[in-house]
Amino acid sequence: MPTSDSLDQIASEVAACTRCALHKTRTRAVPGEGPQNAEIMLIGEGPGFNEDQQGRPFVGQAGQFLEQLLALAGLKRSDVWIGNVVKCRPPNNRDPMPEELQACHAYLERQIAVINPKIIVTLGRFSMGKFFPTARISAIHGQMRRVGDRFVIAMFHPAAALHNPTYLPLIKQDFAQLPQLLETARRELAKTSLPSTPEPSPPTPTPKDETPKQMRLF
Ligand code: URA
Ligand code: SF4
Repeated sequence: MPTSDSLDQIASEVAACTRCALHKTRTRAVPGEGPQNAEIMLIGEGPGFNEDQQGRPFVGQAGQFLEQLLALAGLKRSDVWIGNVVKCRPPNNRDPMPEELQACHAYLERQIAVINPKIIVTLGRFSMGKFFPTARISAIHGQMRRVGDRFVIAMFHPAAALHNPTYLPLIKQDFAQLPQLLETARRELAKTSLPSTPEPSPPTPTPKDETPKQMRLF
């Protein structure tokens, strides 16, 4: 990966990509969008009809719902990066195939490396599968887990929640928890991301004949 990699560079490669068969049926590739310094990345499955027409992620019905969910966390669309595990629409919105996920994977990896988010929210099972290949969403949704230099939270896909009333309150709860989880993520990552901070100096040894103050409390 070139050290000068950028979201624009990745987007222009995606727009011209022919690495899997989805390029043949796409109208426009959908690289994803959002600020390069986003603390949160939301990763869905793949473009649907409207996304394929417009070249932008989550602009159809699922996208409108996603904006409502973000509002529950006090967030606007423009606060977060939004993208997908496959950048071109699978025909008739079928599931992405393993070889398509594999072919497209490097773009997402590069986007994550450039943005370096504190939290990745996976939406749906294909996105979750990148981080937790054997997990079930119903078992782990809403739980924040450390993965290397960041945290990952699996959530239901907004489109699935729109069509399944069981998931609706769950996805809302999970989004409503995001501000609190972001605080935790910031705090935890601050502990490890300051390599220039000197190690704290060792405590001054207590003279043997003097009981430390706090000890008297017990
Ligand atoms: N569903 C997705 O997974 N991604 C989109 O961009 C739109 C709908
Ligand atoms: Fe390339 Fe990904 Fe589109 Fe396949 S889905 S053509 S790998 S950008």
